[in-house]
Amino acid sequence: MFSTQFVLSFSLLLSLPILFFLAPRAIPPRHSSIPISLPDELDDLSLFNRAATKSSSYPNNPSIFTHLSSGKNPKLKIAFLFLTNSDLHFARLWDRFFHGSPTNLYSIYVHADPEVNVTRPTNGVFKGRFIAAKRTYRASPTLISATRRLLATALLDDPANAFFALISQHCIPLHSFGYVYKSLLVSPTFDTTSTESDPDLARLGVRVRYKSFIEILSNASNLWKRYAARGRFAMMPEVTFEQFRVGSQFFTLTRRDALLVIKDRTLWRKYKLPCYREDECYPEEHYFPTLLSMVDPDGCTKYTLTRVNWTGTHNGHPYTYHPPEVTPELIHMLRRSNYSESYLFARKFSPDCLRPLMRMADSVIFRD
Ligand SMILES: *[C@@H]1O[C@H](CO)[C@@H](O)[C@H](O)[C@H]1NC(C)=O
Ligand SMILES: *[C@@H]1O[C@H](CO)[C@@H](O)[C@H](O)[C@H]1NC(C)=O
Ligand SMILES: *[C@@H]1O[C@H](CO)[C@@H](O)[C@H](O)[C@H]1NC(C)=O
Ligand SMILES: *[C@@H]1O[C@H](CO)[C@@H](O)[C@H](O)[C@H]1NC(C)=O
Repeated sequence: MFSTQFVLSFSLLLSLPILFFLAPRAIPPRHSSIPISLPDELDDLSLFNRAATKSSSYPNNPSIFTHLSSGKNPKLKIAFLFLTNSDLHFARLWDRFFHGSPTNLYSIYVHADPEVNVTRPTNGVFKGRFIAAKRTYRASPTLISATRRLLATALLDDPANAFFALISQHCIPLHSFGYVYKSLLVSPTFDTTSTESDPDLARLGVRVRYKSFIEILSNASNLWKRYAARGRFAMMPEVTFEQFRVGSQFFTLTRRDALLVIKDRTLWRKYKLPCYREDECYPEEHYFPTLLSMVDPDGCTKYTLTRVNWTGTHNGHPYTYHPPEVTPELIHMLRRSNYSESYLFARKFSPDCLRPLMRMADSVIFRD
């Protein structure tokens, strides 16, 4: 009995590296099916562990209360996490966004695919803000890893980072920094779906509890195909179909949820598995909404602050705006939200939109 089991597990163990070795030759390699290497995985684990350990030594959901009650009155910051595999097309617009804002109110981190020759700005707010990065592929778990690397780096770097906004090179701001800061950290009315209110605190203009702004949908039409893309039972038992969620890849998390995300090992084991069908494989749109709906459902608003236009989508890409469409009316329309007082960011914009955007930066975009 014992020896049969032993032989069985031994041969299983032996076949794993053989499979690993043969698989890429047997099937033409697809980007989403390139496994994440063990050294990369261990590197990330060590970063996540360090960030989690260090973060547990101070409060993880700093509220206005700790903020007000502490004698030194340290300001809370928003960490802007830029995830890119090309130049930061709108670096000048973001420079203008941050220009003149107190540097103790924000942090910036950039994860740029090291295989791409990304121009590193030699001046402005992005100078020196590039973090240790690894290769990323579209529609693959490498995007989840890159995002967690950004979150962990920002958690480790500064205990004052209270919100973490994920931004791509195709994203633009829809308001001034001051508006974004007030909306996330001060305004008690920004989240119009919130039922949680304490009239006394609201009178004082104090937000009772911070929530993550992440889209979490459970009824999208293609959800079953997305769930089964990794194999019908591949996600079991950790994630049943009833628990599987989808949402926009771009979100703004609280420190508490950022920490939950980098501490996760259970769901990651499933989501890092390669898909067998490329056309329905977008793990980065599922991992974060599924995880947070399981571990902190009440801590999430379930909608995003990053406006995106999915009408006429093709090949998994949302609509991309081009220069002739970039007008003050477009900015005003993109701000309009059914869930909050305004959207704060929008995507996607083609790189040549920089010029028309800069032309109306002060007169429209940063005028609240
Ligand atoms: C990267 O880009 C810079 C500036 O565009 C150029 O000077 C340099 O040769 C490029 N390097 C590679 C490896 O392509
Ligand atoms: C999904 O559910 C939400 C909230 O219950 C609803 O607003 C939305 O219209 C639903 N979407 C679809 C595609 O059924
Ligand atoms: C969304 O994209 C479609 C084209 O697919 C366009 O006609 C429409 O005007 C866009 N909507 C907004 C709100 O920009
Ligand atoms: C807001 O809700 C209305 C009615 O359901 C819908 O037609 C519209 O597209 C929504 N707007 C946004 C920005 O999602």
